[in-house]
Amino acid sequence: MTIPKIIKPAFHVTGEKGWINDPNGLIFYKGKYHAFYQHYPFDTKWGPMHWGHVVSDDLTHWEYLPIALKPCDEFDSFGCFSGSAIEQDGKLYLMYTGVVENQGGETFRQNQCLAVSEDGITFKKLGIVIGEDILPSDYEPWNFRDPKVWKHDDWFWCAVGAKRRDGTGRIVLFKSKDLFNWSFVGDLFNKDSGGTIIECPDLNQEQGYLLYSEQFQPKSEGHQNVHTSYWAVGEMDYQNGNYKATAIGTMDYGFDLYAPQTFTGAPIVIGWLNMWDRNVPSAKYGFAGMLTVPRKVCVKDGRLYQTPVVATKDAIKKIVDKSLSDQVVKGVITITATELKQFNLKLRNNGENYTELSLIDGKWVFNRSRSGEQIVGVETDEDSLAGIRRMPWSNNHVTTLTIVMDEFSVEIFEDGKVLSSTIYPPEDANGLILNVKAQSCTYQKENV
Ligand code: FRU
Repeated sequence: MTIPKIIKPAFHVTGEKGWINDPNGLIFYKGKYHAFYQHYPFDTKWGPMHWGHVVSDDLTHWEYLPIALKPCDEFDSFGCFSGSAIEQDGKLYLMYTGVVENQGGETFRQNQCLAVSEDGITFKKLGIVIGEDILPSDYEPWNFRDPKVWKHDDWFWCAVGAKRRDGTGRIVLFKSKDLFNWSFVGDLFNKDSGGTIIECPDLNQEQGYLLYSEQFQPKSEGHQNVHTSYWAVGEMDYQNGNYKATAIGTMDYGFDLYAPQTFTGAPIVIGWLNMWDRNVPSAKYGFAGMLTVPRKVCVKDGRLYQTPVVATKDAIKKIVDKSLSDQVVKGVITITATELKQFNLKLRNNGENYTELSLIDGKWVFNRSRSGEQIVGVETDEDSLAGIRRMPWSNNHVTTLTIVMDEFSVEIFEDGKVLSSTIYPPEDANGLILNVKAQSCTYQKENV
């Protein structure tokens, strides 16, 4: 019997097997980076949510730990949904949404729960700490999830994704002195999300930004993905429990990014490198869904600025005179061009299949229509149907493009902006062809 070869990403987190979605509880705890994730280990489709768990010293090499949370108690029997982590008195606390089916099964209830660990590996559940009894009655208790906890002054603060009964998406804020007894503060963020819940809020008090995700947005607002994640920069007014945004932008211009979260204790963001409502071709290898490469983030010139974090080795540098060919499946490619005029790059190329990045009318144009196995989503706009995503080009005197490649993914960074997409090329598609017109250009390849 021949055992089919299983292909997996080399340095992007996936489940050991089964389904994963949002990153959860990201924290730098006792000298290690801990990442948890929404996980259904028994199928390559979404199911009752567990929290999978990995740790790393360098954010590139990850080690699996036992599943941290399972949906097996009366307050989370339908699922342990997304949440965050905080360290207190040396212990690691996870705050997550316990989902239960109503009696009669007609609707769900979502409450915020706590779990604690002394060793960062095994967790003891402590039950509901923010229940629907302290959520004002003008919010829907079945759309109340994804707690993000942080400490400021002498208080713990918790932002939770919510929806008013009038249909508007909100983020609501709670505060507590001890992580167990919470009180409602108010609406943290009032962006009318176009009739859908706001999910996975992530307020970063060190740098003053807020990340959030929205499902099923109105087409009129011109989003390329039906489900999109955003950053907002601005200021938190703790007096009134209000976040005032001065600018809002998209977290990622690609096909596949949702539910990004920041590590507690480090200015690093990881998101889900996938998207709701699309087929996931890696299911044939027994896993579906992965996490993005970690991104170092800061607020610069009034916007969120993101750069990849990868532990690399063996850098090779070449000067590019018009064109260059190479072979790359995994690694980090950096292309630096002065006075860039024209650009075309084919990745994972075997002649018939390739993934393309071009500079057209002042924008990066990414095309995965010929990448390999097709991915079909719910988007119906022309670009989506043609496999295209666009990202603004900085038009700087020196353009520095960093491309993180792994099995099944391409993440393109330029001037703090990102375009991330999954791709499923055939195994023999490993060529790279660069054509460029610039005053000068260098190409660098680093292995992982
Ligand atoms: C976001 C989300 C969260 C929820 C989780 C369930 O992708 O819908 O709001 O907690 O996924 O898996």
